[in-house]
Amino acid sequence: MFYFFINLYFCVMQDLLNYQEKVVSYLTEIVKDKEPRNLYEPVSYILELGGKRLRPILTLLAADAFNGNVDNALHAAISVEVFHNFSLVHDDIMDDAPLRRGKDTVHEKWDINTGILSGDAMLIIAYQLFEKYESKVFQDLAKLFSDTALKVCEGQQYDMDFETRNDVDIPEYIKMITYKTSVLIGAALEMGAIVSGASSDDRKAIYDFGINLGVAFQLQDDYLDAFGNPETFGKQIGGDIIENKKTFLYLNALELCSSDDKTLLLGLYNSNNIDKVEKVSTVKDIFKRSGVVNLVKEEIQNYTFRSFEFLEELKIDSDKKDMLRNFGEWLMNRNV
Ligand code: IPE
Ligand code: IPE
Ligand code: MG
Ligand code: MG
Ligand code: MG
Repeated sequence: MFYFFINLYFCVMQDLLNYQEKVVSYLTEIVKDKEPRNLYEPVSYILELGGKRLRPILTLLAADAFNGNVDNALHAAISVEVFHNFSLVHDDIMDDAPLRRGKDTVHEKWDINTGILSGDAMLIIAYQLFEKYESKVFQDLAKLFSDTALKVCEGQQYDMDFETRNDVDIPEYIKMITYKTSVLIGAALEMGAIVSGASSDDRKAIYDFGINLGVAFQLQDDYLDAFGNPETFGKQIGGDIIENKKTFLYLNALELCSSDDKTLLLGLYNSNNIDKVEKVSTVKDIFKRSGVVNLVKEEIQNYTFRSFEFLEELKIDSDKKDMLRNFGEWLMNRNV
């Protein structure tokens, strides 16, 4: 039995590595040698900087789960990854982030205008990739894409609005992260289902699997932003604290901590002239004292397990469900 699981694990890993390889080689071809270089070089830079490639892998896994042709799903998978990278370039401008995947962000390496325009070009390229499909599939993909992209903008606006608000509650926070992050993970999976001709019930169930997995994913991102290993995380540690982001950690710490810590925390998030390093370290201490670290880990588990309930509704082989479940478990335990 033990060996069965080990074997299963290696088969799954091998598939994922193959998928990742396909994705990376496609991505490097996209804007190769295109002019003007000042527009496309930053595009190549961000697309080739690495990253987990989890969204395109989910598209390919979903296409395979519904017995479709994985190579045919590759254009949709790449579209999702290009859109994701567009959103990161603009997100890094909005969050004033210096580091991405362990390297300079696009607007740091070049400038803000370059980040805006190269980001715009990526958004168009993402959409253009759907032209590879026949009209019905094109239409379904384009509709899902537009709906998703608009929600990502809405989520990003809530995220920015919350920086200066002091009355954000947990349901509002969950809505914000669902929009800015989960909908794209849901769409990545649903696109795999669309390309493989899945039924509308199956499309809905795999989307909902992605939505719940996406909430768990963003909760983990918020946790790692404060407590990740600076050597491996690839982003500035404490960036959310510096930007006064109303994360799950912050909102729950306010509820759970002592009244002295609450006053301190509110003061730190409402003042502009505090030393950043000191702010990050004091806020992290308050988070730890409040007990919110355990709470976020429980919530990540809850959303991951809730996502698995939607897998049960899918009319696909059980080994394909195992594959998707394993991927969800891996995500829950990630450190990058
Ligand atoms: C970062 O996404 C943005 C979020 C939605 C949290 P990833 O953690 O998937 O980033 P890469 O692509 O692996 O760098
Ligand atoms: C990212 O949220 C959401 C989008 C890019 C749309 P974050 O701002 O938390 O992502 P990171 O932490 O910078 O990757
Ligand atoms: Mg950010
Ligand atoms: Mg952001
Ligand atoms: Mg983050």
